[in-house]
Amino acid sequence: MSDKKRIFSGVQPSGNLTLGNYLGALKNFSLLQDEYECLYCVVDLHSITVRQDPLLLKDRSYAVLALYLACGLDPDKNILFLQSQVSGHAELGWALGCYTYMGELNRMTQFKDKSRRHADNINGGLYTYPVLMAADILLYKSDMVPIGQDQKQHLELARNIAERFNNIYGDTFVIPEPFIPKTAARVMSLQEPDKKMSKSDDNANNFVTITEDPASIMKKFKKAVTDSESEVRFDEVNKPGISNLMNIYAAVKSISIEETAKEFENSRYGDFKMAVGNAVVDALTPIREKYNELMNDKGYLDSLFKKNALRAKEIAEPTLKEVYEKIGFIV
Ligand code: TYM
Repeated sequence: MSDKKRIFSGVQPSGNLTLGNYLGALKNFSLLQDEYECLYCVVDLHSITVRQDPLLLKDRSYAVLALYLACGLDPDKNILFLQSQVSGHAELGWALGCYTYMGELNRMTQFKDKSRRHADNINGGLYTYPVLMAADILLYKSDMVPIGQDQKQHLELARNIAERFNNIYGDTFVIPEPFIPKTAARVMSLQEPDKKMSKSDDNANNFVTITEDPASIMKKFKKAVTDSESEVRFDEVNKPGISNLMNIYAAVKSISIEETAKEFENSRYGDFKMAVGNAVVDALTPIREKYNELMNDKGYLDSLFKKNALRAKEIAEPTLKEVYEKIGFIV
């Protein structure tokens, strides 16, 4: 076993991943792979809380794996795997649900939000979703969890569940820390910058996907909402559109907001928007090319999933056994 600290994170295969997913999560994953022992999961169990087409779901699971690789994750260094192929997630999820209060789940903003958007299918899975997420993280005794801002509340719940379990049964779980990027922790919609950029948005002008073609990306940035002033200045309250674009530029270029403000202090909005679009295209083009190559080799992706499910199980199974023993199951 490695003495490096352990990282776990997951991405749902529930749609085409966006620039928000890239900047908030995937871009950071590859920066951590040398210093930590990393598990990056394609969380297909989570994605069925919203109705999925079976064939499309399979394809999207391969697509997330292909994007992990295309974003620079080394398949030997990292355990890149599919959640449904490691049964411990569902098993621990059940157990932890019995140590989670309805009051806690009622407070989850993502549940409230998704219930509003899928009013015809407010199912039990949508409600207990954060418990399964806690199980994902705790099953591997993960030290750190790289996520965007929107998952912070879920991580706090995972910490509470872990502490509660440890208090009852003695030291079992590691209490995980969130790792949230300084810039672009919450990439906003291009047309409605008061809401999060999301892959499930009905209006395609609100988001850019990681594999989108350059002309379409440029068109969307040109159209991005700004404000009636003319100064490129960071002010999330009064200038949410411009601030979002500044965040995107800073994150893509790996520079600070201050450096971004300085670079564009005399620029017009039109020129600034083009610069942001170009920077995004430059960052995403090599990823798209690699992704297209990988998606032509499903056999390889499949073999990676299979191999890595075994690697993940080697870590997951002892934890599950320990938990079952402590609870009083005969193991
Ligand atoms: P998901 O699939 O919605 O998103 C994957 C990652 O992308 C981040 N993200 C964003 N970051 C910045 N700006 C945005 N607009 C944006 N949209 C998405 C998310 O914060 C996330 O880090 N519940 C999780 C998946 C999950 C998970 C886990 C994550 C399941 N188990 C265990 C970490 C650990 C989710 O729905 O992410």
